[in-house]
Amino acid sequence: MLVSEREQLRGNIEAWVEQYGSNRSALIPVLEEVQRKYSHISEYVMQVVADILDIHPVEVSGVVSFYSFLGRKPKGRFIIRLCRTISCEMQGKDRVARQLENDLGILFGETTADGNFTLEWANCLGMCDQGPALLVNERIYTQVTPETVHDILEECRRTFGVYAPQLTEEYA
Ligand code: FES
Repeated sequence: MLVSEREQLRGNIEAWVEQYGSNRSALIPVLEEVQRKYSHISEYVMQVVADILDIHPVEVSGVVSFYSFLGRKPKGRFIIRLCRTISCEMQGKDRVARQLENDLGILFGETTADGNFTLEWANCLGMCDQGPALLVNERIYTQVTPETVHDILEECRRTFGVYAPQLTEEYA
């Protein structure tokens, strides 16, 4: 990673700390911003965040490990999270999962080679009476069927660059 990129990254983190406050309570919102912009949280970022918030890097690392919406590996432009909790389970989430895996050619926990889609499991999304439910980034879809999976993926492809976070350059 170039020095200028590191400086820019640090500048972004400092701006988010200014926005959310320079204490512990800012940790999660700042990490969410990093995740949104860079699609993952590297060891370097964890060090910088710990340094700026004056907390131990192990604490930052623990938060990144605990929350499923944060990750150390780059994720796709579109992160699809399918609910696997009981109501959605009973309403056919397995068929939806199979369709997603077939259409994207990846398994849950993986990202497509073009960096566009990541498949993840989620726990209850609060739409239990309208399952199966899934999230695409921050947008929720309900009563999803194998047939509508195709439409959802097409919609993602049509809206590239419109509402999805942009993948940015890799950083160390
Ligand atoms: S069980 Fe799937 S949204 Fe609640």
